[in-house]
Amino acid sequence: MNQQEMKQAVAQAALKYVVPDAIVGVGTGSTADLFIDALAAMKYDIKGAVASSERSAARLRGHGIEVFDLNQVNDLPVYVDGADEITQHLAMIKGGGGALTREKIVAAVARKFICIADQSKLVPVLGKFPLPVEVIPMARAYVARELVKLGGEPDLRMGCTTDNGNMILDVHGLSILDPVKLESDINQITGVVCNGLFARRGANVLLLGRPDGVETIAL
Ligand code: A5P
Repeated sequence: MNQQEMKQAVAQAALKYVVPDAIVGVGTGSTADLFIDALAAMKYDIKGAVASSERSAARLRGHGIEVFDLNQVNDLPVYVDGADEITQHLAMIKGGGGALTREKIVAAVARKFICIADQSKLVPVLGKFPLPVEVIPMARAYVARELVKLGGEPDLRMGCTTDNGNMILDVHGLSILDPVKLESDINQITGVVCNGLFARRGANVLLLGRPDGVETIAL
């Protein structure tokens, strides 16, 4: 399988984690898009979805899948999303698509996080992919200076306003040996809305696309 076929295979494999008659959490990105397309085949078996971005909500609605406000949802058995990087311990960097904050909120509500990714996303150490940090616009320069103190090289993502009306700093040059600590440290900087480390709440299951099939890694 090539990379696109691997993405399609993991998107399809995630369907077996979708709970009938329940609401499913849906992520953002090219792999999540393929999951949404696969989910359309079982749209009459689910109650609906909550989405981590306006982009995914529009795609879900395009398939005739009802999109619920997260505040209306008490129980979310499963959240399915991609990752920019993931380790064997199922800690991730996310937010390449800019939807990290809503992704983290939906993931926090979900009982189980199913990560779908092709094998290029599996890394021994997080940080080669620049870490996205969503910031309140007036705090941009201050947060950037604080991120430099943590060893990073922040770059403002040009032309990007998040669904929440904020900006994103992409932090280069980090070798993240303790993702749980760095996630907390960045969250302590005033003006940070959210960062793209998903370590305190990592994935529960990784469906990893390999050239010869889908590998399942579960903690
Ligand atoms: C969106 O903000 C991201 O967290 C995506 O989930 C992540 O970038 C993976 O996207 P792809 O499936 O397009 O690689």
